[in-house]
This record gives sequence, structure tokens and C-alpha cells, in this order.
Amino acid sequence: MGHGSEVFALILTVHIALEIGSINASRFRFTNFVCDSVDESWISVHKCRLKAVQRGKTTLSFDGTVLKTVSTLKVHAQIFKRANGFKPWLYNITFDGCRFLRKPYEAPVVLVFNLFKPFSNLNFTCPYKGPVRVIGFHIIGEQIPVPLPSGEYLISIKWYLNKMLAISTSIYFSFEENLT
Ligand SMILES: *[C@@H]1O[C@H](CO)[C@@H](O)[C@H](O)[C@H]1NC(C)=O
Ligand SMILES: *[C@@H]1O[C@H](CO)[C@@H](O)[C@H](O)[C@H]1NC(C)=O
Repeated sequence: MGHGSEVFALILTVHIALEIGSINASRFRFTNFVCDSVDESWISVHKCRLKAVQRGKTTLSFDGTVLKTVSTLKVHAQIFKRANGFKPWLYNITFDGCRFLRKPYEAPVVLVFNLFKPFSNLNFTCPYKGPVRVIGFHIIGEQIPVPLPSGEYLISIKWYLNKMLAISTSIYFSFEENLT
């Protein structure tokens, strides 16, 4: 190994150590989870709640049953960040949920979906009728795949089943980066 590559390896090691240090020091916490605008002819909601399981760890669970066959699913997702009330922040996306379930698209949605998919039964495609569950979903700061400024956030998701608003879900969380 030449001198140059040793220096490079050293710099790389220090850089990785710093990265891991700063990533580990960030904190993600769900603060509220609300399901409303429920159209009970379309979906029945058995569970929509957060649970504090340990100090600093809160899990999110949703358990519902889609009562009629869904052949089109429109999803409208919007992110808000708190600053004198919640203000629209960065993403306001409407996408075709049935297309997404066949083959995920829209990078920011794919990132979020990959976080909660392991906790869910979302491995079906349209047409679909039956249970929809996300149980015990939690994330830790280091799993946040993108740089995120510290703050309080709200992800509002409206689910339109066969063009009718069937349910609205609001996920509130706080994120603190680079706690040292
Ligand atoms: C977000 O998108 C929805 C639907 O496309 C639109 O009605 C709404 O006005 C948008 N909101 C903002 C703040 O851009
Ligand atoms: C979805 O996952 C469940 C449980 O892991 C499995 O039983 C089922 O066969 C899967 N369905 C599809 C369409 O992959």
C-alpha cells in the first residue's frame, strides 16, 4: 500500500466514524397518529394508535378492513413542517396506489414505503378487499434515509378508494438531528 492510499484509508475511516457518530445521535419520535374522515361503507378501522414501548421508542399501528373491492386507489400525501402552525413543506404528491403496489414509483414515496413495509401486510395488488395492517412500526433516527432538518412534522395522507375519500391518516413526528 503506498503512502497516498494509507492517508486516503485513514481519511475514509475518520469520515465514516464521524458519519456514524452523527447519525446515531439523531432522534425520531412519533408524536401523534390520527385517522379521520373515515367512510365506514368502505373501511372499518379497528386500530389507529401510537404506543410508547420504551423510553424514546413509540410504535405506530393501524388495523383496518377494506369492505368493498378496490380497483382504483388514489393517494394524496403531503408533508407539513411546524413553524407557527404546520406549513406545507417539500412534498405534495398524488400518486396511483394500485400502480405503486404493482411496482413502486416516486422516489420519496418508495423511501417511506420501504421503512414501513416490513411491519405491514401490504404485499397485495388491486383489485383488493380485506385487511390492511401496519403493526408496531417504529424507526430510529439512523434509518432516516435523507437529510432532514430538526423539527416537528406532519405527513397527511388521503386515501381515495374508487375515487371516494375513504380515510385520512395524519402522522405526526419529531426529528432532532445531530444531538451531541
Ligand atoms: C397539494 O396538492 C393538492 C392536490 O394536487 C392540491 O389540491 C393542493 O392545493 C396542494 N397544496 C399545496 C400547498 O400546494
Ligand atoms: C403476503 O404475505 C403473506 C404473509 O407473509 C403471505 O402469506 C402471502 O402469500 C403474501 N401474498 C402475496 C401476494 O405475496
